Amino acid sequence: MLTDYSLKMPKNIRAGAHAIEQLTDILNDSIKKIVIFTDKGLLGLGLVDLPIQMIKEAGIEYTILSDIPAEPNYHEAQAMIDAFKEEKADFIIAVGGGSVMDVAKLASILATDAYTVKDLLDNPLLAKKQVPSLMIPSTAGTGAEATPNAIVGVPEKDLKIGIVNPEMIADFVLLDARLIQNLPQPIAAATGVDALCHAIECFTSAKANPISDTFALEALDLIMNNIIEACTNSEALTAKSKMLLGSFYAGVAITASGTTAVHALSYPLGGKYHIAHGVSNAILLTPVMKFNEPAIKDLLAIAYDRVVKDGDKGLSEAEKSAYMINRLDEIVKVLEIPTSLQTFNVPAEDIDGLVEAGMEVTRLLVNNKREVTPEDARAIYLQIL
Ligand SMILES: NC(=O)c1ccc[n+]([C@@H]2O[C@H](COP(=O)([O-])OP(=O)(O)OC[C@H]3O[C@@H](n4cnc5c(N)ncnc54)[C@H](O)[C@@H]3O)[C@@H](O)[C@H]2O)c1
Ligand SMILES: [Zn+2]
Repeated sequence: MLTDYSLKMPKNIRAGAHAIEQLTDILNDSIKKIVIFTDKGLLGLGLVDLPIQMIKEAGIEYTILSDIPAEPNYHEAQAMIDAFKEEKADFIIAVGGGSVMDVAKLASILATDAYTVKDLLDNPLLAKKQVPSLMIPSTAGTGAEATPNAIVGVPEKDLKIGIVNPEMIADFVLLDARLIQNLPQPIAAATGVDALCHAIECFTSAKANPISDTFALEALDLIMNNIIEACTNSEALTAKSKMLLGSFYAGVAITASGTTAVHALSYPLGGKYHIAHGVSNAILLTPVMKFNEPAIKDLLAIAYDRVVKDGDKGLSEAEKSAYMINRLDEIVKVLEIPTSLQTFNVPAEDIDGLVEAGMEVTRLLVNNKREVTPEDARAIYLQIL
């Protein structure tokens, strides 16, 4: 069946060894005031120094908003946006991981008092772009620099919810590997596996299409072949820049198709137990891939042929598919990311609540090629308890 598909992405993307210096080409006389969104950790590490220097050289007024907690809930995001509104800025720069970029993207469409983050949770498409934005990711990563999504915690529901509005897509993106060079290993590993999940989920999504496949497969190739080196060797700048590019491409793939049951079942783990997004995805990756295998064997075999450089093209579809799932599992283990919820003391009696909350993420569950029933979700959660 022929269906329609489309792609929206940031208009101006710059990558390379000195991408941040290219701010000079972007900052112009029409910009009167910039708000820089970042977090306290990144400020302390000096990762915002170079962008600030470039802004100063351009003679533009700026304010830094850095009071952003990791994985904010919608009240915390709204507090930042209220502070942003006071500044009356006409340009936004985000330097940070997904948490920072998501708040900055929400600010870009909530610069007046017309709507709140809560309004967008109820009706995401209400707001229009008001302030142009530039994203400089410091993790590789969420791909938030590419997507129309902003994810916020919703404490009343013990869930994280994705607000999706194409107006939030950033105008400019700078991909500079110096930003991720000294990422602590556990953060590099978890955020890297998040990008890996984006790539494999989008490639095997029911919404996959020729455009998303192009980005998802290239992302998978870049990430699977560089993640271990990038996460374990701080000098490996080439591997790190490939991870940054891979996570950006995986974000583009999310925009063009969508993630599946790994992300759907992961949201309650972030919402209720505040397990980092990349870690909860890593825990679910193997069980969900094994559950999906009967419906996606052919796709995993295609991915094998693309990704495994010394692979045996003569293997059967089933062998290639099994290899891929095993390799994904191995990556999570080699990077020493938790593989079960035991580390997080999740009690067995919480399982009903997890199943109920996970089944609410219909936005992503509909993308899963194999239907996930509440009994299936329960069986998957039981495997990781
Ligand atoms: N919008 C999207 O499309 C999208 C996609 C996936 C995930 N997300 C969301 O993004 C958030 C997670 O973002 P994240 O995984 O990038 O992590 P994060 O932004 O929450 O950052 C995690 C920690 O890493 C630190 N950190 C970030 N960069 C660093 C660096 N270069 N050096 C040292 N420390 C650094 C931060 O200060 C923070 O303490 C979650 O809320 C998740 O739901 C959004
Ligand atoms: Zn993700």
